[in-house]
Amino acid sequence: MQDTGRRGWRGRAGSGRGGQYNRSVRIVSIGGGPAGLYFAILMAKADPAHEVVVLERNRPDDTFGFGVVFSDATLDNFREADPETHEAITRAFTHWDDIDIHYQGQVLTSTGHGFSGLSRQRLLDILQARAAELGVVTRFSTEVDRPAAWEGADLVLAADGVNSWLRQRYARHFEPRIDWRRNRFVWLGTTCPFAAFTFLFKEDEHGLWRVHAYGYDRQHSTFILEATEDTWRRAGLDEASEDDTVAFAQGLFARELGGHRILKNRSLWRSFPVIRNARWHHDNIVLVGDAAHTAHFSIGSGTKLAMEDAIVLSHCLRDSSDVTRALAAYEAERRPQVEALQRAAQTSLEWFEQVERYHGRLEPAEFAFSLLTRSLRVTHDTLRARDAKLVATVDAAFAERAARQSGVSVSMTPPPPPMFTPFKLRGLVLANRVVVSPMCQYSAEDGTPTDWHLVHLGSRAVGGAGLVMTEMTDVSRQGRISPGCTGMYKPEHVTAWKRIVDFVHAQGPVRIGIQLGHAGRKGSTRLLWEGIDEPLAEGSWPIIAPSSLPYFPHSQVPREMDRADMLAVRDDFARAARMAAEAGFDLLELHVAHGYLLASFVSPLTNHRRDAYGGALANRLRFPLEVFDAVRAAWPAARPMSVRLSATDWADGGLTTAESVEVARAFRVHGCDIIDVSTGNTVPDDSPAYGRLFQTPFSDLIRHEAGIATMTVGGIASYADVNSILAAGRADLCVLARAHLHDPYWTRHAAHAQNIDLPWPNQYITLKDFTPRSR
Ligand SMILES: Cc1cc2nc3c(=O)[nH]c(=O)nc-3n(C[C@H](O)[C@H](O)[C@H](O)COP(=O)(O)OP(=O)(O)OC[C@H]3O[C@@H](n4cnc5c(N)ncnc54)[C@H](O)[C@@H]3O)c2cc1C
Ligand SMILES: Cc1cc2nc3c(=O)[nH]c(=O)nc-3n(C[C@H](O)[C@H](O)[C@H](O)COP(=O)(O)O)c2cc1C
Repeated sequence: MQDTGRRGWRGRAGSGRGGQYNRSVRIVSIGGGPAGLYFAILMAKADPAHEVVVLERNRPDDTFGFGVVFSDATLDNFREADPETHEAITRAFTHWDDIDIHYQGQVLTSTGHGFSGLSRQRLLDILQARAAELGVVTRFSTEVDRPAAWEGADLVLAADGVNSWLRQRYARHFEPRIDWRRNRFVWLGTTCPFAAFTFLFKEDEHGLWRVHAYGYDRQHSTFILEATEDTWRRAGLDEASEDDTVAFAQGLFARELGGHRILKNRSLWRSFPVIRNARWHHDNIVLVGDAAHTAHFSIGSGTKLAMEDAIVLSHCLRDSSDVTRALAAYEAERRPQVEALQRAAQTSLEWFEQVERYHGRLEPAEFAFSLLTRSLRVTHDTLRARDAKLVATVDAAFAERAARQSGVSVSMTPPPPPMFTPFKLRGLVLANRVVVSPMCQYSAEDGTPTDWHLVHLGSRAVGGAGLVMTEMTDVSRQGRISPGCTGMYKPEHVTAWKRIVDFVHAQGPVRIGIQLGHAGRKGSTRLLWEGIDEPLAEGSWPIIAPSSLPYFPHSQVPREMDRADMLAVRDDFARAARMAAEAGFDLLELHVAHGYLLASFVSPLTNHRRDAYGGALANRLRFPLEVFDAVRAAWPAARPMSVRLSATDWADGGLTTAESVEVARAFRVHGCDIIDVSTGNTVPDDSPAYGRLFQTPFSDLIRHEAGIATMTVGGIASYADVNSILAAGRADLCVLARAHLHDPYWTRHAAHAQNIDLPWPNQYITLKDFTPRSR
């Protein structure tokens, strides 16, 4: 056993566990990785009276991994926490600004990213030396496997890494959840000093390989090789020795390595475990670093997270004289920061898991943009601030594709941001990519839209969006959600809708679409503000559904539809489509989402039929497709149709994402032009993962896997989001609902902020010389 440090550590018998401390604390860190050592440093520095001991199973120079990477922002935190380690770290660094992306024989370089790397061994040397200087005792070659190791300690740091023994021992309290991801990866090194953070994408006969490579000193780089499990197995690497892996990587990337060698260091193939814990502290034991959480290597190093944990924990201990309270404060402060990073890491790791979806399909600039914005944290705007040239290239390529696709020339210099490019669907050309989402207003009279609808839709048309959608408009009186819902089932409806359509068409290039639906088992309910989805107290009407399953236990029980019901509903949809054409609508959307009638045929949660319309997906889709065909036949061939889908039910036993791709494909084959990708609202006890852009990954999936244009909706709030989604190829149109309730002129305001000139109606022509000022 080797000890370092000038002051020996003594356990103080009888000291409180998790209780008050006056001056000094006795701290035992299980694990001498970055988390354990850095925390020991910060505590010893905060008060030399603290007794800090680190128990580490390895020897001082025993390490795995190659280089670690920190962003410039992380380094600022280190400077503040301990200038001495910061200085030693920055002296050992290699710094780079560029990201190189090797894609289909080209190298695209993006600049302005600001990262530094150093070897893990060098980092540990620095931390070990600084810890010793501050009087921390580090006991190497000490395996901790029983509580006696920390007897008498006031605070026990579970800094024992990804396979934490302590976390496992107290699993009942910490409740760890480990999500083993499906890709395989191996940490390798190379003597090739890559000058930039480098991503390599390369196909061979086994599949597509990804490499994440970054320099950590003048002579070496980390080289992480990643592939899907199938590709990895096909290449025989499931049976490979470390030397076989090295030989494979060396051969495949010979050109990129330019004669340099691949290096191994316990380089075993792994799956990445995403680790989360329900609780981070128990009694006087606290989880830090990889023991508490992991974030995929594609977003930044676990080392950074581990060291930042140490900083926050040391601050909490400084600010509270009670260990238990300090640990609670640490978890309260640090958990949201870590979880935000884990969410970004999740979208990033999923991007790498499914990169086959984009490889070869996206043009180089689009692929680079998709990669750089993969975590959804970097947007079109923030990337432009780092690398204006790249974003200009992306915008130019996007505008050129839009001009080709729409047949409309896009002749602005510089090219417009993606949201202000045209998009064509059959004979309909939209002037820009912003859509006002369908939103029920509960203000109709026996289905007839009123002045409210004229003002509501009219003002949003003046607001500059390319397409304004009506709310869910029902094909029969019986098919309404509420007594206030709009309809298309009486001749007066055509007249009333035509008035609105004509008004919208008079506002320049904006177009208007109608969403047709039938409420099914969610029908005969109250107005939104009187209780959403709640059954009517009086005046209710009978409802129908694929199966006799009420929405809430206290909802009306729907009658199971027979064939005659289906034919009647199908004919109602076709008649409504003809009426919509007569009213002059430009696009027709079939509502197959949110648990309404057609959606409730698709979801296995709401369709329990045993006939040809229930069971397998093809059967559950049969009736919605019959309706689609009838509507398509009734709707003019030159006008496009969209279908709104719930791509997941967010509930156990619901529609799978693979099935949602099948559903989209089926509608495409039947003549659908674009899928409006929504989710959920199928059952009341669903658990959606709400958040910014929370449904966009489903749009991305359907667009690429089903090969059909998509609209994405849900949590889109900024024009930077819209530009990012479009430029990365995650959707063709962006649909905003509540943002448009808040601001009918949302698109105009976005245009103003991006120096785009949207002509005003004549009535408002004086605004041409008006400069709006916000406080
Ligand atoms: C194989 C591998 C290679 C990696 N390479 C890199 C890389 O190149 N760059 C990078 O940024 N990140 C890398 N990582 C991730 C990175 O190491 C971690 O995110 C980071 O080190 C977390 O710091 P930590 O202190 O929490 O855990 P660790 O660094 O894992 O430290 C935990 C320490 O606890 C010790 N320990 C564990 N159990 C016991 C016990 N029972 N008794 C005593 N000691 C114990 C371990 O020996 C280890 O030193 C790699 C991870 C792995 C698994
Ligand atoms: C008041 C209101 C009414 C809605 N009515 C409909 C509707 O009629 N049809 C529909 O498909 N979605 C409807 N939705 C859902 C929205 O179209 C949209 O999918 C959802 O609000 C998420 O987008 P957002 O985050 O931009 O608000 C409605 C949403 C709101 C807020």
